[in-house]
Amino acid sequence: MGKIKFIVANWKMNKTLAEAEEFLKKLVSVEEKQNLEIAICPTFLCLEKALGICRQSGIKIGAQNCHLEKSGAFTGEISASMLKVLGVDYVILGHSERRNYFGETDEIINKKVKSALENDLRPIICVGETATEREMGMEKEKIKLQITCALKDINPQSLANITIAYEPIWAIGTGKTVGIKDCKEMFEFIKNYLVSAYGKEKSENIRLLYGGSISEENAKELLGVPNVDGGLIGGASLDFTKFSDILDQAESVGAQK
Ligand code: PGA
Repeated sequence: MGKIKFIVANWKMNKTLAEAEEFLKKLVSVEEKQNLEIAICPTFLCLEKALGICRQSGIKIGAQNCHLEKSGAFTGEISASMLKVLGVDYVILGHSERRNYFGETDEIINKKVKSALENDLRPIICVGETATEREMGMEKEKIKLQITCALKDINPQSLANITIAYEPIWAIGTGKTVGIKDCKEMFEFIKNYLVSAYGKEKSENIRLLYGGSISEENAKELLGVPNVDGGLIGGASLDFTKFSDILDQAESVGAQK
């Protein structure tokens, strides 16, 4: 029996409060998925509403970012402790858009991961290589470095609360996905690296997601790759029909294990 699949919707800077409400009300009204864990990550503005709508369902809510400090003079920022008080379960950290557009370094991401864990939030840490890095055959080295830095000095007891999302940067929002053979190889590499770095027992519960142009057309195949515990979905998670289709596929792949 494998782990049930974990499907995370990253809505990025999309959906107004009313749009988020409409989507989530539909989502909670459809039959509960037995073989799935679902987390929706809307904008900060929609978190409270999303938590209210999803409270009675098994659907979890995540934020897309948090600040590394608890409080203070950080205009425009939101802390992990504030998210926890609200009732949020997950937080996406180190997304390539945060790294590229907002200058987040591995060191900052490591501090955010620690802050999230201290506040009982479960980090979904994103890692991924650029097209050039893949062309140069440096993708594994890059992923290993990003994982090592993000998890530096983390209490080993906390590893079970960590999810790592492998998202090749060139595949995000482009319609391109990693080939199945390359995907298999990368997840095997990540799994083996985690076992060698943290031991079999401690690393066993770290979940691994694939992200980057998952769609209703490729979900089943990508989610069926060995060691892939689920998916982080951007564009296709904004459309209710497409997202529901992906959830059905994830459920059926999970059930086959
Ligand atoms: P995408 O985004 O599914 O639109 O490629 C994934 C992500 O950025 O997490």
